[in-house]
Amino acid sequence: MINSIKNICCIGAGYVGGPTMAMMANKCPKLIFNVVDINKERIAAWNKKDLSKLPIFEPGLRELISNARNKNLFFTSEIKKAIESADIVFISVNTPTKTKGLGAGKSSDLKWVEASAREVARFSKGHTIVVEKSTLPVRTAEAIQSILNSIDSNSSTKNKSFSVLSNPEFLAEGTAIKDLENPDRVLIGGDDQKSMDLLSQIYENWVPAEKILFTNIWSSELAKLTSNAFLAQRISSINSISAICEVTGADIREVSRAIGKDTRIGSKFLDSGPGFGGSCFKKDILNLVYLAEYYGLYEVAKFWEEVVNINKWHRHRISRLIVKKLLGTVVGKKICILGFAFKANTNDTRESASINICRDLMEEGAVLFIQDPKVSPLQISYDLGQNENSELKNIKDKNLFFKFEGQWCYEKNIFSAVEGVDAVVVLTEWEEYSSIDWKAVSKKMRKPSWVFDARSVICQKKVVDANINFWRIGDGTITK
Ligand code: NAD
Ligand code: UGA
Repeated sequence: MINSIKNICCIGAGYVGGPTMAMMANKCPKLIFNVVDINKERIAAWNKKDLSKLPIFEPGLRELISNARNKNLFFTSEIKKAIESADIVFISVNTPTKTKGLGAGKSSDLKWVEASAREVARFSKGHTIVVEKSTLPVRTAEAIQSILNSIDSNSSTKNKSFSVLSNPEFLAEGTAIKDLENPDRVLIGGDDQKSMDLLSQIYENWVPAEKILFTNIWSSELAKLTSNAFLAQRISSINSISAICEVTGADIREVSRAIGKDTRIGSKFLDSGPGFGGSCFKKDILNLVYLAEYYGLYEVAKFWEEVVNINKWHRHRISRLIVKKLLGTVVGKKICILGFAFKANTNDTRESASINICRDLMEEGAVLFIQDPKVSPLQISYDLGQNENSELKNIKDKNLFFKFEGQWCYEKNIFSAVEGVDAVVVLTEWEEYSSIDWKAVSKKMRKPSWVFDARSVICQKKVVDANINFWRIGDGTITK
């Protein structure tokens, strides 16, 4: 057993591993942090001198990286060396939904977690605290422990020992640095109090002790899944009510404000939008569904699965509505999509509602001009499964778009993206979309023109005054 922590390794330099270790390294300047990844390009990107080229965009991240990088924070591909010297190893690798085999479509694919545990078993020296940072199915700690216990008899150092803890991450993208700096809670699950205390001491450098919760390991694993399930459930709930608002004349923003004033409900996470995205909500709920089914709790499984089903339905509802308002057809019509990231202040597009809505509109024959301040055209091609046709930018004759039905191109500039369009669809709540000069935009649009605001960020009056038809998510007073 160790008495103090000096050296930390994090396996996985992604959206969680990178920012989390950057925060810890800033708060604990005496400790050494090695963040490792099998993806060499990602490591190279974390080491780029030009901080605007870091692999992920998060407000406040650049400052943390520039303070600690190559002082006590290192991004490296030398996994063996990093594990050998570590007192604590955080496993922060991806845990996507399985695409084939048993549990496909619901359970988590744990092959990266297993590979990480095997690397720890192989390279660690002495006692190592192994921390589950990834979001994992309940009882994964048992599987990790069994891999760690079966140390290869040829291994050079046999006197190794391990404690496995669960310490799930609750940061949200776009606000990751704020969330890490001031978390609502830090959850540490385990049965080895000494190791739990050592992990807790790291956080105590900046997190008040009363915010650090100790639980048994299974509660910690389940609390993470449940937390995401509850958050996603609120969004599906409010989005389902937005559909009722649109047919009854109620306004979802007024409904949200009214119910959020009830302190038992609370006002957060009640913004209706185009449907939740992000890498985790869907996968974590499906994981919970799989768990419930595995234990024969079919009613519980059905209850949670509906949160995902409604989300899918809601996205299609928005694309169908756009087609309907554009006189029932969008073939050859030029539509500007504002926002491709799954939320503002991130370059992440995983499970973004924009992907589904763009695909639906392209299938209907629309020609899309897509703008996002942080998402690259390469990423959009990957997500849409179709390369951009940059020739589209040079076409001046609006009628020519018939020839290009179902195609898309990227526009860096909002003003160029709206040239000759029939509609503008706002799908991400980027701050800059709230200050668009609609009078100027209106002059560039084809008539009749439409603005569809799925994020409630656009001022209705400015759009209507500019002689553009307006639809806002969940506002029945407009759409009736
Ligand atoms: P990510 O895909 O951005 O990063 C994971 C990284 O792990 C990748 O760079 C991958 O190359 C690396 N990796 C995989 N196997 C490896 C191995 N054997 N050795 C070294 N590196 C390896 O994923 P992420 O978004 O950071 O999520 C990681 C985990 O954290 C997931 O379980 C996720 O559910 C959870 N989580 C994510 C968020 C979020 O906002 N993204 C928030 C909380 C929790
Ligand atoms: C979410 C959780 O908020 C984090 O606590 C958790 O750690 C993380 O998942 C995870 O495990 O990965 P994240 O997905 O990054 O974080 O972002 P959120 O702010 O939760 O947004 C998720 C989706 O819900 C986005 O598409 C967002 O636009 C949407 N949303 C959010 C709404 O439509 N309305 C809201 O009121 C809030």
